[in-house]
Amino acid sequence: MKVGCVKEIKNNEFRVGMTPDNVKSYVNAGHEVLIEKGAGVGSGFMDAEYEAAGAKMIDTAKEVWDTVDMMIKVKEPLPEEYPLFHEGLILYTYLHLAADKPQTDALLNAKVKGVAYETLIERNGSIPLLAPMSQIAGRLSIQEGAKYLEKTFGGEGVLLAGVPGTPKANIVILGGGSVGTNACKIAVGMGANVTIMDINLQRLAYLDDIFGARIQTLVSTDANIEKAVKEADLVIGSVLIPGKAAPKLFKKKYLKEMKPGAVFVDVAVDQGGCGETTKVTYHDDPIYEVDGIVHYCVGNMPGAVPRTSTIALTNATLSYGLQIANKGLEKACSDNDVIYSAINTYDGKLTCKNVADSFDCYDYTDIKSLW
Ligand SMILES: NC(=O)c1ccc[n+]([C@@H]2O[C@H](COP(=O)([O-])OP(=O)(O)OC[C@H]3O[C@@H](n4cnc5c(N)ncnc54)[C@H](O)[C@@H]3O)[C@@H](O)[C@H]2O)c1
Repeated sequence: MKVGCVKEIKNNEFRVGMTPDNVKSYVNAGHEVLIEKGAGVGSGFMDAEYEAAGAKMIDTAKEVWDTVDMMIKVKEPLPEEYPLFHEGLILYTYLHLAADKPQTDALLNAKVKGVAYETLIERNGSIPLLAPMSQIAGRLSIQEGAKYLEKTFGGEGVLLAGVPGTPKANIVILGGGSVGTNACKIAVGMGANVTIMDINLQRLAYLDDIFGARIQTLVSTDANIEKAVKEADLVIGSVLIPGKAAPKLFKKKYLKEMKPGAVFVDVAVDQGGCGETTKVTYHDDPIYEVDGIVHYCVGNMPGAVPRTSTIALTNATLSYGLQIANKGLEKACSDNDVIYSAINTYDGKLTCKNVADSFDCYDYTDIKSLW
């Protein structure tokens, strides 16, 4: 198969769909790999490294799109890229179609086989191509919180770990899933006092098992949240109710009761945020202040660390990508039916039920009925 990768063109997106090591794996499996020149530079991967791994470096994105059977990307294609689609192309990337009718139409009209990272669901219910980004955002949330607690950024001027003879910072984590657990790991490692809340008691029992006496677990109720945030230096928002807007757990009325200069990092901002005062921010201007509380609400946190994010993402995408390239999409699905769940568009049909349900205008087609 001819497999390709182009430079991401979304604003401030520095990740790339394939690393030089990935190229080696595809080449060793007998595939021809075409990479647009400069595609990996934002993640620190130079053209010479791709060439040494066996890739053919191509001057323009158009040439890569026109030539390949399978395109491996990170972000959903932007409108400038729609005219580059061709019938039968396998597009392996994040698609996020439920909120993007123009892209859905473009993929259907061009009869692209759209394979979305975010809908690939393993047999145990996990979403392996989404999880690495939650891990990164969770770990980064403490790092960003620590930074914005510094006085120069309007923060309280508190060091998370403190030093002997001073109080440690109090961190409250709302939601103990992937993001929350990873935030907890870094917060505990830095020596802060950590309280983590969830509505899922089994999840709290798991967190209690792995972190033991180093953390406080609490059931997430309005009363517990209000009490905890009054003493907090850093609050992390990391709740998720799949497919729904995040519940507004962190209320505006709490802000005035909190320590001036405390920081709220709302990682759940991509689902609308779990704070009443949350609004989306970007890496070039990530914070704002409401009632003395510093808010950090960046919707694509992993973009701050593109090298780690690219390696983490491609660690997860490589094995499914190789199955698809080696066998063709259809055979890869029949050998490993998990891959069916990732197919959003096929031969002009919309094959992801959740995406179809998000619109009134499309019929859903079960992908298994097509073969
Ligand atoms: N901003 C970013 O860059 C970025 C990056 C990755 C993930 N995210 C977002 O972070 C959020 C969390 O993702 P995740 O992977 O940890 O999800 P997850 O499903 O692993 O965890 C969510 C947790 O929230 C808990 N929860 C639900 N309702 C709650 C409530 N009322 N109170 C307390 N806990 C509650 C659930 O029980 C679950 O344990 C999602 O919105 C995700 O899209 C954002």
